[in-house]
Amino acid sequence: MDAFSSEPIVKARNAYILQDQNPVLSKVNFDIGKGEFVYLIGRTGSGKSSLLKTLYADLPLRAGEISVAGYHLEEITHKEVPYLRRKLGIIFQDFQLFLTVR
Ligand SMILES: Nc1ncnc2c1ncn2[C@@H]1O[C@H](COP(=O)(O)OP(=O)(O)OP(=O)(O)O)[C@@H](O)[C@H]1O
Ligand SMILES: [Mg+2]
Repeated sequence: MDAFSSEPIVKARNAYILQDQNPVLSKVNFDIGKGEFVYLIGRTGSGKSSLLKTLYADLPLRAGEISVAGYHLEEITHKEVPYLRRKLGIIFQDFQLFLTVR
């Protein structure tokens, strides 16, 4: 059995993502297979960071279902969030990744 034939590691079903009361993304559906490498591209303000924030449970999922590494974000508890995040590796775009060397 190859990696792609197992249950998706990330699964979104009819998910709605809001910032405050403003809808950012609606009816989001996708699967990411174990070991799959994917890009998320879109113009500034289109909701890429909002979607990722939802995946690491920094932004609440307002409707629909998303599972990440076996955690169901529509019902995740505050206590479970650190365990979810232990399964993820995240590099933030505003993080100081480069040092200036003189
Ligand atoms: N903390 C916040 N409070 C309210 N609205 C927000 C917040 N963060 C983002 N938004 C709004 O949500 C929408 C999506 O923004 P988001 O940051 O997810 O886009 P992005 O695709 O990551 O953009 P960029 O390419 O600039 O990083 C935008 O309209 C933005 O103004
Ligand atoms: Mg962003």
